[in-house]
Amino acid sequence: MNDNAQTPFWMEGNFAPVTDEVTDTDLKVTGSIPPELNGRYFRNGANPKAHASPDWFLGEGMIHGVEIKNGVATWYRNRYVQTPLIQEQEITRELTGLPENSFANTHVIGHAGKFLALQELHPPFELTKELDTVGLYTFEGKLERNMTAHPKICPITGEMMFFGYGLTPPFLTYHRVSAAGELVQSEVIDIKTAIMAHDFIITRNYVIFMDLPMVWNLAKLNEPGVPVVYDESHGARFGIMPRNGSNKDVEWFDVDPCYIFHTMNAYEQGDEIVINAPRLVGYTSVGMDSPPIPMLHEWKLNLKTKAKSERQLDDLSVDFPTVPNSRVGLKHRYGYMAEFDSGGSPTILGFHKYDMETDSKTSHMFKNGRTGGEPTFIAAQNATSEDDGYLMSYVHDPADDKSELVIFNASQLEQEPIARIHLPVRVPAGFHGSWIPDEA
Ligand SMILES: [Fe+2]
Repeated sequence: MNDNAQTPFWMEGNFAPVTDEVTDTDLKVTGSIPPELNGRYFRNGANPKAHASPDWFLGEGMIHGVEIKNGVATWYRNRYVQTPLIQEQEITRELTGLPENSFANTHVIGHAGKFLALQELHPPFELTKELDTVGLYTFEGKLERNMTAHPKICPITGEMMFFGYGLTPPFLTYHRVSAAGELVQSEVIDIKTAIMAHDFIITRNYVIFMDLPMVWNLAKLNEPGVPVVYDESHGARFGIMPRNGSNKDVEWFDVDPCYIFHTMNAYEQGDEIVINAPRLVGYTSVGMDSPPIPMLHEWKLNLKTKAKSERQLDDLSVDFPTVPNSRVGLKHRYGYMAEFDSGGSPTILGFHKYDMETDSKTSHMFKNGRTGGEPTFIAAQNATSEDDGYLMSYVHDPADDKSELVIFNASQLEQEPIARIHLPVRVPAGFHGSWIPDEA
């Protein structure tokens, strides 16, 4: 937070929390919703009940959802994830990492018929498709500690792979869940200290851990905010392990120190692993005065020769990367990212679609002060190309202080959206979400 600012950005404008849980079954639409979209779009974010929070990342998780059936938006609902802490409003206790001290505020996914709300310091919380909370979800008691908010689901095998980090040893643990939802493998991975590892990556045959220099400072655990420090002396490395491997199989590649919140994708190319992700240097905390700009980079790591290279692909301030679900871990042509205001608050000004084949991009910048959220790609039912599908996001309009669920044609991103589902309230700028089709 800027010391001179009276109100941090996450308590102002469309970052500020909303007060009410709302249900609306009479949603107006501009344009037309593709009838092949049947399912729900859910998006999570911190919505501090106390209307005060020491950090954008802290605060009770609230999920905003829209159900779509046969070309009709049948409902909008926003609901708190009812974790045990939610009545207590003791925000810093979230950092102790115990399930009873959790907010489940970062992501919401579907896998093996379950809807799971995620935050990286505890196991998931299961939801119903109407966003009621079922309770803590531990894969039949097999997941005893934390789960990242960014698991990866293999489009070939249907497996879900993820890791959890610990503030106390073990500092990193890998988990693999079968397509049917059974946790079938857990492996402790050796790293030397407690790091804030936010995301990881898969390829067709490997998983990739990121041991980056964002280190927990537990001496500050009881102070406001998230006590992590950017400490370059920790170094930075990618650890590549066969999906069914263990700690002894991890090949570590040291790279120039940086932080990576989110990865776009990774894939195998001969003996090489190719990674695309926005890279930050010197990030210290949410709301810092001159935040570093995340810029899209590419790393190539050769498993046979150990050669490695890194290059910057663009100089825009971009994050919240995504590729089609069908390309996760496989070579992608297109990656979609949000452009963030580089001036301080992480306001999303537009979307960019990177074409890795032609080294070009197409863009859609919001007009008239409208701001977006994370873009989610949904493939068309009988897609004929990788970008044959839709890009979906909540968009806030300051003119009426309300939000819309906006659907773009992903192959014509520069054009106006094909559908705008008007919501009765605003959806605060939040974190991550998923389109979860009925058959998932
Ligand atoms: Fe994230």
